[in-house]
Amino acid sequence: MNSIRLRPLSRLFLALFLTFAAVGQSSAQDVGAAPAVSKEGVTPGATAGATPATAAAPAAGGGDAAAIAAGDALFKGNCAQCHAVNDVVVGPALAGITKRRPMSWIIPWVKNSSKLVASGDEYAVKLFNQYQKQQMPSFQLSDQEITSIVAWVTSQEGQSAGAPGAATNIKPADGAETPGTGAAGAEDGKYMNVLLIVLVVVLIVLVVTLVIIANIMKDVLRGRKDLDGRDVEVVEQRFDLSKIYNSTAVRAIVGIVFVLAVLYESIQGAMGVGLTQGYQPTQPIAFSHKLHAGEHQINCAYCHTSVYKSKSANIPSANICMNCHSQIKTESPEIKKIYRAIERKQPIQWVRIHNLPDLAYFNHSQHTQVGGLECQTCHGPIQNMEVVYQYSPLTMGWCINCHRETPLNTKGNAYYDNLVKLHDTKNGAVPFTVSSNGGTECSKCHY
Ligand code: HEC
Ligand code: HEC
Ligand code: HEC
Ligand code: HEC
Ligand code: HEC
Ligand code: HEC
Repeated sequence: MNSIRLRPLSRLFLALFLTFAAVGQSSAQDVGAAPAVSKEGVTPGATAGATPATAAAPAAGGGDAAAIAAGDALFKGNCAQCHAVNDVVVGPALAGITKRRPMSWIIPWVKNSSKLVASGDEYAVKLFNQYQKQQMPSFQLSDQEITSIVAWVTSQEGQSAGAPGAATNIKPADGAETPGTGAAGAEDGKYMNVLLIVLVVVLIVLVVTLVIIANIMKDVLRGRKDLDGRDVEVVEQRFDLSKIYNSTAVRAIVGIVFVLAVLYESIQGAMGVGLTQGYQPTQPIAFSHKLHAGEHQINCAYCHTSVYKSKSANIPSANICMNCHSQIKTESPEIKKIYRAIERKQPIQWVRIHNLPDLAYFNHSQHTQVGGLECQTCHGPIQNMEVVYQYSPLTMGWCINCHRETPLNTKGNAYYDNLVKLHDTKNGAVPFTVSSNGGTECSKCHY
């Protein structure tokens, strides 16, 4: 009979366990929801112009799933090296483009942006100047293909448009450091904290109530005369930690959880060995790329003089700083550090950030000069960085993926003419990528 009837104390534990489980579950859901909400905060321009989010769907051109999927692939193949939906990369963030411009503008722009700029279109000229007169390449895409790219872009911004009030009136060109993102995140954090405190208080009240009820029940039972020996034992039973500790089931569960946790951590650790994405050391002088390359628009190659000519991009010597700082801000303590280095005839000890292992061969001029890639494709929005960090993973997979996806820059290079013709007659549908030219052969990158 005892096997069916739960003992009072076990009941108390069961009740407690269930409450904890239920509360744990609901707070886990909240935790799950939190990053999603704070992500909204980080999407600049997601709801640019404060247009209601619902307006996005009809503008997507029907929101046809097939078109969106096609647009995804087209975007990755043609646009992703310079555009992201919510971030400025080389070109502007494309979120909200259908609200800024009609399709009748977007289509001719993508087909030939320089023609539109040359025609004197006011918006195009302004944008072109704003992006330091960088020319967006022309694309031989059909109207339908461009529409599907725009549909995909709109579907991406649609995903993050539900944010209550977050990221409104942020201009798309604001880049990574958008005002207001921090505030949104902080608000979420505060909300979570309040929720947690309320939960803890509720739990304490619950525990106290349950203990009181258990005691009352015990008292009532003690007063009854018709209890048999076993029931008396249960009523007089004390809470015994060592019993829980000695239980095989509890030990087994704790053991399994421990082994799983160790396993998970080691796998995560092993995957990350040698990965330094995000590495952002403090530099000996508070040199800001945001100030120099961003606000003052000093060309990257003014300082990194060899980046278009040789394998390595050099770090500028103190003389280059002196071209300007013999005149500018001469009294600043940070600038005085440059003077001191020159007086002592010692180089400034910059901390190196990007560093491939010696077994891999990487050449800058091959990518910047020959391939025509922008620095930002690999280094991210350097012109917005107060302190430089490693933007890309720099893994072999990263190199190879780009080589598979990027069409080779063969225009105006007679060296490639026959090769491309041969490739196109054999499999014209597939573009002539870096990997078609042998860019995924081991020996190209390994000595
Ligand atoms: C090599 C870099 C590059 C590539 C590739 C590129 N763009 Fe651009 N895009 C730019 C730049 C830079 C601008 C800003 C205007 C300028 O300087 O010409 C721009 C502007 C735009 C704009 C106007 C945005 C606005 O806020 O008004 C649209 C739309 C656009 N691009 C769409 C596309 C699409 C679609 C693709 C792919 C088919 C693409 N771009 C590929 C560099 C690029
Ligand atoms: C006024 C000179 C100057 C200009 C202009 C400049 N840089 Fe730099 N750059 C430096 C200095 C000095 C360092 C080393 C200190 C540091 O990391 O901040 C550096 C470091 C870097 C690094 C990290 C190197 C490493 O250690 O791995 C990258 C990447 C980089 N610059 C890219 C760029 C790009 C891209 C631009 C143009 C948008 C640019 N720089 C413009 C001076 C300059
Ligand atoms: C082409 C001109 C130019 C070059 C080259 C240059 N700077 Fe600057 N630098 C500036 C300008 C302009 C400012 C902003 C001055 C102001 O805010 O009034 C500045 C500001 C600074 C500041 C902030 C000073 C302060 O206290 O506010 C530091 C630090 C600095 N530069 C370091 C460097 C270093 C290190 C180099 C060499 C790697 C360098 N700069 C090369 C033009 C230059
Ligand atoms: C295809 C990707 C790619 C592009 C494009 C690119 N870089 Fe790099 N950059 C790298 C890699 C990878 C390293 C690390 C190289 C190493 O450790 O040997 C690096 C390293 C650097 C360094 C540190 C010094 C060195 O050579 O190791 C500087 C500075 C730098 N890049 C500046 C630039 C500038 C400026 C541009 C644009 C003109 C640019 N990079 C374009 C991938 C790229
Ligand atoms: C953003 C795209 C991109 C990334 C990332 C990239 N590459 Fe490349 N790579 C190119 C392009 C484009 C070319 C072709 C340049 C040309 O010849 O026109 C190229 C060419 C090369 C070549 C010459 C291939 C040949 O056929 O001669 C080597 C070697 C190379 N890359 C090494 C690397 C290594 C190593 C990395 C990673 C550390 C890397 N690349 C990352 C785009 C990329
Ligand atoms: C596009 C350039 C590129 C090509 C092609 C390439 N690799 Fe790599 N490989 C790299 C880079 C860069 C690294 C360093 C990655 C890192 O540090 O995480 C690397 C790392 C490795 C490593 C790991 C070494 C270590 O110490 O962890 C091995 C093994 C390797 N490559 C083998 C190959 C083989 C085999 C091929 C041909 C099938 C190949 N690679 C083709 C760029 C390339």
